[in-house]
Amino acid sequence: MMEAMEAILTRRSTRNFRQEAVEQDKLEKILEAGRQAPSGGNSQLNHFLVIRRADVIRELVEQVEKAFAKMEVTEGMYRSLRHSIEASRRGGYVFCYNAPVLIAVANRPDYGNHMADVACAIENMMIAANALDLGSCWINQLRWLNEEPGLLARMRALGMKEEERIYGAVSLGWPAAGKPARNLMKLTGNEVTWID
Ligand SMILES: Cc1cc2nc3c(=O)[nH]c(=O)nc-3n(C[C@H](O)[C@H](O)[C@H](O)COP(=O)(O)O)c2cc1C
Repeated sequence: MMEAMEAILTRRSTRNFRQEAVEQDKLEKILEAGRQAPSGGNSQLNHFLVIRRADVIRELVEQVEKAFAKMEVTEGMYRSLRHSIEASRRGGYVFCYNAPVLIAVANRPDYGNHMADVACAIENMMIAANALDLGSCWINQLRWLNEEPGLLARMRALGMKEEERIYGAVSLGWPAAGKPARNLMKLTGNEVTWID
């Protein structure tokens, strides 16, 4: 398996997936990576909903598109959110890129580190996926819509607890291109100040 630094540095988002199941042992390794992620005060409040049923993913895609299509684009809106709304209004918007696996990560709104803990777990899972030659992409739409009544009810029906909300998700699968793209990212930000 790939060395840790290489797996971290070469992880790139995949948005085009093959319609092929991901082996159970690989998925379990990825979940192990997510579950072993650090959490504030070792709270371990992340809840991983692993969605593999194509009919459930299809229903989520329809529901997300409907919810965005009802939303208004406002001045200065976050670019990706605006894109989701505009694409949904045009129709045919598939927020999770037709990946065979979607892992939604829930946590508790009343716990102050919910977003940080979910982010640590998702990053761990994406790095693990890269090490296993699988493609992954962070999916934010279920977080933006995490109070939308229809989607809230749907996530609860899928096993999310009453007190939880979705704070992030990740699409996983075999990249259409074969292996994941592994080019290094051109850095345009992420400033470093050394204090010696
Ligand atoms: C918090 C967060 C939210 C993101 N949301 C989405 C998303 O909803 N859809 C998507 O296609 N990519 C999403 N991304 C992926 C970023 O667009 C991507 O990481 C960035 O462009 C850098 O490219 P790379 O992942 O290939 O290095 C998200 C990434 C992060 C960290």
